[in-house]
Amino acid sequence: MEKYTTYRDKGTGISPFLPLNKPKVNVLLRLVGVVIGIVKLLALSIVGLLYPVVPLLSIKAVLFLLNVDVDISVDNIKKANKSLIQSNLPQKGDFVISNYQSPLDPLVLSLITNNRLKHIVWLIPDIEGNLYEYSLAGVVGHALSLPNLHAQKNGKKIQLSSIPESKTVYLFPEGTTSNNKSILPFVVTADTVSIPKLFKKFKVKAVSIKNENPYTTTPIPQPIASYLLTNLFARTSSYYRLKEFILDKDHTWPEIRDLLSNSGRLKLVGKDLSLEKKVEFIKKFR
Ligand SMILES: *[C@@H]1O[C@H](CO)[C@@H](O)[C@H](O)[C@H]1NC(C)=O
Ligand SMILES: *[C@@H]1O[C@H](CO)[C@@H](O)[C@H](O)[C@H]1NC(C)=O
Repeated sequence: MEKYTTYRDKGTGISPFLPLNKPKVNVLLRLVGVVIGIVKLLALSIVGLLYPVVPLLSIKAVLFLLNVDVDISVDNIKKANKSLIQSNLPQKGDFVISNYQSPLDPLVLSLITNNRLKHIVWLIPDIEGNLYEYSLAGVVGHALSLPNLHAQKNGKKIQLSSIPESKTVYLFPEGTTSNNKSILPFVVTADTVSIPKLFKKFKVKAVSIKNENPYTTTPIPQPIASYLLTNLFARTSSYYRLKEFILDKDHTWPEIRDLLSNSGRLKLVGKDLSLEKKVEFIKKFR
């Protein structure tokens, strides 16, 4: 992988855009995988048809079929105090800042949100820090495609002031996905999104997401069909570790980025591994 050294972080040695290594699987297990995969593919088609009727249940079923296991904790709350954790999870009036590694991340976030699916607003910035609103499917698509530097294809440009307090807002300040190891530089700054201003309307939280499954993280673009097939047939599970931090209005963007690293479990890569660098990397990688 030496030809990609310019896309390696100088401080940590991490290549945030490089897909993770996939484990070797023997022939027999692969055969079992094919049989289970076909059954799951049928189940997934049924779940897909049911989505308009029971969206939340369908999301649950998709994550189940893709072997996703979610573990969530809240900073400063004991793991055993389940009710207190539950009451602090993202809800109506919350603005949540999160990192982003996989098209499954918005599905997992939908499930931990105590608000109706249609009241969740998904925001991804472009390279200038302008915010674009996406649908749930739009975020899934974004995680699977080449990042758009400027105008966002499937997003709608939006001002924060126009979002009602009844919503739960998710913002992905990196503007694109990376692999399981890093937090990319943020494209939003205090100039584009002011934390004290957010506090006038919302309770602000940060959620750090770590998922080490090389099949579900998508640092580089992948067609959705190939993504689904790989994950239905691969039989590796995704163990999602989520940690929520409750912020106060004095938190700065660099401090929030630090929190998302969850005490170094994810590494903060340098400014030169930007959105433009990722686009350049993808061209070379193909
Ligand atoms: C959970 O935390 C709350 C608030 O600190 C406390 O009142 C409650 O007793 C705790 N419950 C458990 C099961 O520890
Ligand atoms: C994900 O990152 C951690 C380091 O933070 C590493 O130990 C682990 O091997 C990575 N997972 C994969 C599948 O590479």
